[in-house]
Parts: sequence; C-alpha cells; structure tokens
Amino acid sequence: MHSISVTNALLVAFAASAAQAQTPPGSQPSTSRSLGIAYGSNGNTTVTPNILLPQPLTLVQPIVSLEQQLNGTHMLAMVDLSINQNSAMSSLNGTGPQAQGLEPCRTTRLHWLQTGLTQTADGTFVNTTSALGEYGGPRPPANDIPHTYAFYLFRQPANFTLPAWDAGRDYVASSAPTRMNFSVTAISDVVGAPIAANYIRVQNPNSTAPGTANNGTCPAGATNGTTSPTPVPYTGAATNTQARSGAAVIIGGVAMFAML
Ligand SMILES: *[C@@H]1O[C@H](CO)[C@@H](O)[C@H](O)[C@H]1NC(C)=O
Ligand SMILES: *[C@@H]1O[C@H](CO)[C@@H](O)[C@H](O)[C@H]1NC(C)=O
Ligand SMILES: *[C@@H]1O[C@H](CO)[C@@H](O)[C@H](O)[C@H]1NC(C)=O
Ligand SMILES: *[C@@H]1O[C@H](CO)[C@@H](O)[C@H](O)[C@H]1NC(C)=O
Ligand SMILES: *[C@@H]1O[C@H](CO)[C@@H](O)[C@H](O)[C@H]1NC(C)=O
Ligand SMILES: *[C@@H]1O[C@H](CO)[C@@H](O)[C@H](O)[C@H]1NC(C)=O
Ligand SMILES: *[C@@H]1O[C@H](CO)[C@@H](O)[C@H](O)[C@H]1NC(C)=O
Ligand SMILES: *[C@@H]1O[C@H](CO)[C@@H](O)[C@H](O)[C@H]1NC(C)=O
Ligand SMILES: *[C@@H]1O[C@H](CO)[C@@H](O)[C@H](O)[C@H]1NC(C)=O
Repeated sequence: MHSISVTNALLVAFAASAAQAQTPPGSQPSTSRSLGIAYGSNGNTTVTPNILLPQPLTLVQPIVSLEQQLNGTHMLAMVDLSINQNSAMSSLNGTGPQAQGLEPCRTTRLHWLQTGLTQTADGTFVNTTSALGEYGGPRPPANDIPHTYAFYLFRQPANFTLPAWDAGRDYVASSAPTRMNFSVTAISDVVGAPIAANYIRVQNPNSTAPGTANNGTCPAGATNGTTSPTPVPYTGAATNTQARSGAAVIIGGVAMFAML
C-alpha cells in the first residue's frame, strides 16, 4: 500500500479546499465544507472543486468521505446543474417551472440519490439501504459545454420523506426521464443546508466543437423554480466536529469502493 503519498495528497487537497466554496458560485444550496469525492481505482483521483474530469473515469461511482466524524444517518445527492431546459422539456413532456440550473436556461438532472448512509471510523460513507436513485455516470451531450455535477451531503432525519417537488417519481433507472428537473433546494429547505459538498465538470469526449454548443433560449412556458434563499443551517455539524487522523480516509475507502 502506498499509503503515505495518497494520504499526503488527500491532506493537501483538504487544506487547499478549506477556504473556497464547495458549491458552484451563485448556486443554491451552498456550503464551504469539503466533501471527499474520489474517483478511479482505489480512489486515485481526488476531486477539488470545479475539476474537469475525463468522462470515462466518472462512470463508476466514487468513494465518498468526510474528514469530520458524524454520528447518525446521512444522505447524498449528485445532480447535473447544466441540463438544457429545452431537452428537459421534451423528456418531461410537460410545462411548468424547472429546478434552476447553473447557467441561463439550464435545469437539473439527478445522477445519484443515496439515503441511509453511515460513516465508518475511517471517514468513508457506506450505504445501509439501497439507493432511491442508483449512481449514473455523467453523459453530457456532444458539443455541449462541460456540465457541472454537484455532490451534496445532507443530514437525514429519522422521518425523512422526499419534499413535494421531488416526491412521487421513480428514480430507480439511471436513464429515467423523471430524473430531470430534480430540486436540491427543495431538500435543503426541509433538512437544512448541506453539511459538505463538492463539484466536478465533465464534457462529452466525442465533442468536435467543445464549448460552442448553443445554449438555447429559455423555452416558452418554462420558469425557474422558487426556493428559500437561505435554507435552515445544519446545526449538528458544529457540535460534531472532532479532530481525526486523515490517514485512513482513502486507504480505508479502498475496501468500500464497490459498496457505497
Ligand atoms: C486511476 O484509475 C483509473 C481506472 O479507474 C485509471 O484509468 C487512471 O489512469 C488512474 N489514474 C492515476 C493517476 O493513476
Ligand atoms: C415523455 O414521453 C416519452 C415518450 O412517450 C416517454 O418515454 C417518457 O417516459 C415521458 N416522460 C415522462 C417524464 O413521463
Ligand atoms: C432562470 O435563472 C437564470 C439564472 O438566474 C436566468 O438566466 C434565466 O433567464 C432564468 N430563466 C427563466 C425562464 O426565468
Ligand atoms: C448499497 O449500494 C449498492 C450499490 O448501489 C447496492 O448494490 C447494495 O445492495 C446496497 N447495500 C444495501 C445494504 O442496501
Ligand atoms: C419530522 O420531524 C420534525 C421534528 O419533529 C418535524 O418538524 C418535521 O415536520 C417532520 N417531517 C416530516 C416530513 O414529517
Ligand atoms: C418540474 O417539477 C415540478 C415539481 O414536481 C413540476 O411542478 C413541474 O411541472 C416540472 N416541470 C416540468 C417542465 O415538467
Ligand atoms: C462516443 O462515441 C462512441 C462511438 O460512436 C460511442 O460508443 C460512445 O458511447 C460515445 N460516448 C459518449 C459519452 O457519448
Ligand atoms: C453557453 O453558456 C456557457 C456558460 O454560461 C458559456 O460559457 C458559453 O459561452 C455559452 N455558449 C454560447 C454559444 O453562448
Ligand atoms: C457519537 O455517538 C456516540 C455513542 O452514542 C457518542 O459516544 C459520541 O460522543 C458521539 N460523537 C459525536 C461526535 O457526537
């Protein structure tokens, strides 16, 4: 095990990210606490905010960890914030507001919704239940801008049920059209701001004209969904803070690679 170099890389990553926003600028909900996301064999690729990752590397779900030790049950949402509103409209066959995306005329798509997460002593999260929406890797359209994918870790109250905006949909298949127009702010409005977050960008590898895809016009009848501008802060995090050796985060995560 090359534990020393991996550990150092991880600590450097945590230190470098400590001061910067862990959610895309201007997006809601937001947090400045870093969620550990590591892709690749044995988690060899540690995510720093806004990193552009090769699409094939993101096809297998990452290892998720947190430096801070938390008690209780948590949940994770991974959401594409760069879905063209026109393509969402045609997938949804509907009208009405769309969850607000990052760029103009862009909405969201759920990629992963895992409830029932508990943290192990080494900082990694393991699932005690099946996913409400299994992990689906980024597959942005060719010639589109790189899409931004954000990961949010939330406290999961014992009585948690999906908020009205997101409820009553089947998210099981990663290709389900019902994954479009997923609202993270609706969740934070109910359970409080995310404890930690991180985000990546991924571009379609077959693009011949990267970044020049037309962003489209906001479709007629589409409006941004409304949200509380300042979700209730999660208070548990402050009291749960405790120093922990970062040494085992990824090393221990190796064993969890196929489980989370
Ligand atoms: C990390 O693992 C992936 C396979 O999942 C591999 O393609 C990639 O080259 C590895 N990266 C490094 C830096 O070792
Ligand atoms: C929209 O219509 C298409 C084609 O009939 C269907 O495959 C898809 O499931 C529909 N979307 C939703 C959200 O029901
Ligand atoms: C949604 O919000 C974005 C960003 O603020 C804005 O550019 C866009 O015009 C809005 N869309 C609609 C349909 O209001
Ligand atoms: C945890 O998630 C994996 C991958 O989605 C799944 O195969 C497994 O059954 C889940 N574990 C439990 C205890 O539900
Ligand atoms: C869950 O319990 C809390 C505290 O008792 C309560 O405020 C909240 O409304 C409940 N949520 C749901 C969805 O029942
Ligand atoms: C987006 O989801 C909301 C809440 O479920 C719904 O009211 C709205 O009609 C959806 N938008 C589209 C375009 O289907
Ligand atoms: C890129 O093109 C190849 C060949 O057509 C196809 O097999 C692959 O799925 C495409 N990749 C993406 C991410 O669209
Ligand atoms: C589309 O939007 C992105 C992000 O706002 C921007 O970087 C890009 O230049 C836009 N593309 C066009 C063709 O306007
Ligand atoms: C977590 O729960 C255990 C057992 O109830 C308790 O001893 C410990 O102090 C708690 N840790 C934190 C950080 O709250």
